[in-house]
Amino acid sequence: MKKDFLCTLDFTKDELVKMFDIAKDMKLNNEPYSTSLKGKTMALILEKPSLRTRTTFDVGIQQLGGFSVYLSPAEISFGKRESVHDIAKNLERMVQGIMLRTFSHKNAVDLAKYASISIINGLTDYSHPCQAMADYLTINELKGDFKGLKLCYVGDGNNVAHSLMFAGAQLGVDVTVACPSGFEPNLRAYLDACEAAKATGAKIEVVNDPNEGVKNADAVYTDVWASMGQEAETAARKIIFAPFQVNSDLMAKAKSDAIFMHCLPAHRGDEVTDEVIDSKQSVVFHEAGNRLHAQKAVMYSLMK
Ligand code: CP
Ligand code: NVA
Repeated sequence: MKKDFLCTLDFTKDELVKMFDIAKDMKLNNEPYSTSLKGKTMALILEKPSLRTRTTFDVGIQQLGGFSVYLSPAEISFGKRESVHDIAKNLERMVQGIMLRTFSHKNAVDLAKYASISIINGLTDYSHPCQAMADYLTINELKGDFKGLKLCYVGDGNNVAHSLMFAGAQLGVDVTVACPSGFEPNLRAYLDACEAAKATGAKIEVVNDPNEGVKNADAVYTDVWASMGQEAETAARKIIFAPFQVNSDLMAKAKSDAIFMHCLPAHRGDEVTDEVIDSKQSVVFHEAGNRLHAQKAVMYSLMK
């Protein structure tokens, strides 16, 4: 097993399924795991705001018997106060793992390259694999077997979309990304997902019509239109993305038992209406809760 969790594509399907099994087991009864990371410390480095990621890693490591230390942007500013190399060489002597939320994905890759300890990607501009783990755990709990399911991601072809494509392809879930022209997922990410899909037969597609995208979907997923770091584009994006709002009309075009998913935070009234996010079909808080269990399974698998 790889020492770092930067992308689900670095793991086999069996390794991912094993992590889901561990997560479900921990969720049922944490007791057998409560000292599994005894005496181990995770550094939590976040260069962007976070509610779910910070809380779930902090609580998660404690539930496994370990500790966390939070390092804010004021302490660490990548490549400015100190190089990524030097940060790695310091922290590998002090802690047993690092969860990093950063802008450039290269920071996470470099940290993993230089440090001998486990590095977990807690969101970069390119991907958000811990989110995808919690999301597919949620889908598995609610829909059962992955094979034959379809997830439609509606909105910006961003970090969350990339990770949903990667893991979906690996697990055998068809993933359609419906986005405005010019906001498609990164081409490399799309090609990597298509490559991974060859083993499972999953269909990975990108369309520019949300109505077409959600047809037959078992899960409809959306995220903010302007990600952290893109705040200056918020007004312009509101106009471009308006036809991609997930509202009751769009949900009605998916399967009648489709679930609504969102990584959160949500901008209610923009990418999703109150009516949808507060509906019976919405599983957004179930997903958020599963961040804890999925990430505990990741930490346990990498660091025990
Ligand atoms: N979904 C997610 O990663 O939430 P936070 O930004 O609050 O961590
Ligand atoms: N795409 C969003 C996800 C937040 C969890 C962002 O990067 O801001």
